[in-house]
Amino acid sequence: MSEQNAAPSLNRPIPPHGGKLINREVPENEKANWLAEAESLPKFRLNDWEVSDLLMIANGAFSPLEGFMGQADFQSVLDSMRLANGLPWSMPIVLSTDETSETEPGKRIALTNSDGEILGIMEIAERYRYDKREFAEKVFKTTEEAHPGVAAVYRMQDWLIGGPIWLISRPSFGQFESYYLPPAETRALFQQKGWRTVVGFQTRNPIHRAHEYLQKCALEIVDGLLIHPIVGETKSDDIPADVRMRCYEVLLENYYPKDRVALVINPAAMRYGGPREAIFHAIVRKNYGCTHFIVGRDHAGVGSYYGTYEAQEIFDEFEPGELGITPLKFEHAFYCTECGNMATSKTCPHDKSSHVFLSGTKVREMLSRGERPPAEFTRPEVAEVLVEAYAQKK
Ligand code: ADX
Repeated sequence: MSEQNAAPSLNRPIPPHGGKLINREVPENEKANWLAEAESLPKFRLNDWEVSDLLMIANGAFSPLEGFMGQADFQSVLDSMRLANGLPWSMPIVLSTDETSETEPGKRIALTNSDGEILGIMEIAERYRYDKREFAEKVFKTTEEAHPGVAAVYRMQDWLIGGPIWLISRPSFGQFESYYLPPAETRALFQQKGWRTVVGFQTRNPIHRAHEYLQKCALEIVDGLLIHPIVGETKSDDIPADVRMRCYEVLLENYYPKDRVALVINPAAMRYGGPREAIFHAIVRKNYGCTHFIVGRDHAGVGSYYGTYEAQEIFDEFEPGELGITPLKFEHAFYCTECGNMATSKTCPHDKSSHVFLSGTKVREMLSRGERPPAEFTRPEVAEVLVEAYAQKK
């Protein structure tokens, strides 16, 4: 067995990316002092995306990052999918600003949410210019503004600031609060459950039968499943997180073995970066303690910007073992009426006329008309939640 596939021992869980789980959250007993300092500093307002990056850096999900990227890391990530020290990393984690004196290198600023509430402090190590089209082309493989990740880059300001951060006050997740666990706690949970191998599942959609098939195939070979839906910023036409969470709850209640699954929210923003985002998603799940990560068809894709399996092929650009987490690659899955079960072209001999596949757009159209997606596509309990949510929207 290669080193990459070797299961970590119970006493030795999978190491975080870069070897150490970062924690930039200020300890409870020091918060008052940090808050007093933050109140005296110039305030820097973050949008929701930046707030989620701040949290993911602070709680260790983005280990080994300790702050927003400086120029050497940023350029190296664009050029070679690595941090300046050579460690694989595929997504820039940056903070943009205009050229104001308050963001001069050497200064400290108080980071706030969009309501002006203090979240943390940043020490500005450097401020640098960057090329938005280069950013878009290298990360998203397009410069078209119709791509939501590219549009987000074009909305950024013209300078980037890099430097370490400290989180004083963690954003709350309202109704999802009980589903929030930072990486140190998911790691502890896996240990407590005795899971030596854990597969992470990224999703931004309600779980349908193809998702369930992938997860259950994976569960046949690993000890536990971490369902880790993105609840940070997503596209406006994606199904909202509260509806998705209700879908996950009814599905787990009715179709999953409770002692082998954990449902935890992933507060990251969705970037729709296809292949590069798949690498990023895998590294983040490794920090949460997963040993395996599911990558299906058009993972983290949008429109037709990426090839169906590009997000799987990109894993081959790294040496075996270099990422430290094993991708489980799945072909396009569907329900086959001839087989009478879920399958892929690897396991089903029948032609397409027997395959039930509905695109997300098609499902949304059906729901808007008050129609229930078929049981071959979505479990009836999940369809019920979706139909109800759409009826309320009207
Ligand atoms: S994503 O943007 O988070 O990738 P989604 O929530 O739809 O979107 O997908 C979650 C995971 O399931 C991804 O790994 C994706 O590739 C995979 N996936 C979704 N639908 C299918 C399918 N029909 N067959 C195989 N893999 C799929």
